[in-house]
Amino acid sequence: MAYAFKKGLEAAKEMDQEDILRDFRQRFYLNEGEIYMDGNSLGLCSKDAEESLLSVLEEWKTMGINIWTKPKVQKFLYQDHLGALTAPLINADTDEVTVHSNTTINIHTAIGTFYEPTETKYKILVDDLNFPTDRHAVDGQLRLRGISPEKGIALLRSRDGKTLLAEDIIAAMTPEVALVLLPSVLYRSGQLLDMQRITDEARKRDIVIGWDLSHSIGAVPHDFKAIDPDFALWCSYKYLNGGPGAAAGLFINRRHFEKPAGLPGWHGNIKETQFELNHHLDKASYAGGWQSGTQHVLSMAPLEGSLKMYQEAGIKNLREKSLKLTAYLRYLIEDRLTTYGFTVGTPYEDEHRGGHIALEHGEALRINEALKDAGVVPDFRYPNVIRLAPVPLYVRFEDVYELVERIVDIMENRKYEAYADKVGPVA
Ligand SMILES: Cc1ncc(COP(=O)(O)O)c(C=O)c1O
Repeated sequence: MAYAFKKGLEAAKEMDQEDILRDFRQRFYLNEGEIYMDGNSLGLCSKDAEESLLSVLEEWKTMGINIWTKPKVQKFLYQDHLGALTAPLINADTDEVTVHSNTTINIHTAIGTFYEPTETKYKILVDDLNFPTDRHAVDGQLRLRGISPEKGIALLRSRDGKTLLAEDIIAAMTPEVALVLLPSVLYRSGQLLDMQRITDEARKRDIVIGWDLSHSIGAVPHDFKAIDPDFALWCSYKYLNGGPGAAAGLFINRRHFEKPAGLPGWHGNIKETQFELNHHLDKASYAGGWQSGTQHVLSMAPLEGSLKMYQEAGIKNLREKSLKLTAYLRYLIEDRLTTYGFTVGTPYEDEHRGGHIALEHGEALRINEALKDAGVVPDFRYPNVIRLAPVPLYVRFEDVYELVERIVDIMENRKYEAYADKVGPVA
């Protein structure tokens, strides 16, 4: 879409005035004067999330063991409830989504379920830009089947080190490939892949395909009724604002409900007979059948309040504002920052862009440190990327304007030169 932005702070404020989502910001805990641009790494705490967490804590305090089964409370069904609240974000059926464990374990669960190698069709196609945990999990699953990663991995290499071409992905779907695991949005550059086209091509070749939605869930609406992937998984602590270590999400396409789960456990049993404690697993025929052990209820509770905000705001409205914010950020970068040697690593077109902008510079690490001291919360990713996520629930156009002004100040006064060229454990 072509945007007509105007220069100056007043223009930014005008956009905030017109923003139908502007009031959601007041429901978040923000530090005065701070510009939070790291919601693609850890989303902020909302009052809604706090309330749902405190309410579950109260249930525990007052009910003890009855928290699991007391009518209406029934925390042993909490994952179904949260799954149903999440499903509209990806246009899936409510019983196709469950909330479980962490993303990495859900990759193990999914590969354990869907990887069915034969003599001739045994490779797992992955790319070299995905977040490392996906690769570690895939390598581990191959080893568990007695297949070395050297033999079992079909590795798609990016041409430019930033983005992936759909043509290259499709060309890599050779007859030996049994399964494809890809990220919807690349964590560094913010490129959004053409999930429909890639999934269609996998299906044509009888290849199972799953998506890691960690960088798109809650930022980009997905239409799983149309895309129709086999499985997907994601974390809930980025755009979903579920809190540090929030329980992750798992989508299982209903055509696979009868499959055995890759990492089975007693919470995947049908609820009617779970407490008979039989050694035979009577696996539930919906995504809940992929539950393993006891739910992490306290790590699920903030998600409830947060997901209800998504229902209120509407994922389409959020995407529209997010695209406008990232387009505005790009406009300001081009207007104010290219003169200092900055470039943008995120694709230009709306349909190829997730929720953040990758700002590139040879001094990115030191500039990132200087930005933190200037009251901005960005993050740095090797080798030269500052990731900036103007999250539509709590970031204003005015913040984006101010962010760019603070970068100008750092560059103009060479403030970044005071910082060491070394990264800490959580950049
Ligand atoms: C694409 C992707 N997958 C997975 C993870 C993290 O996995 P986990 O939630 O298990 O720590 C991240 C973290 O940023 C990620 O970007």
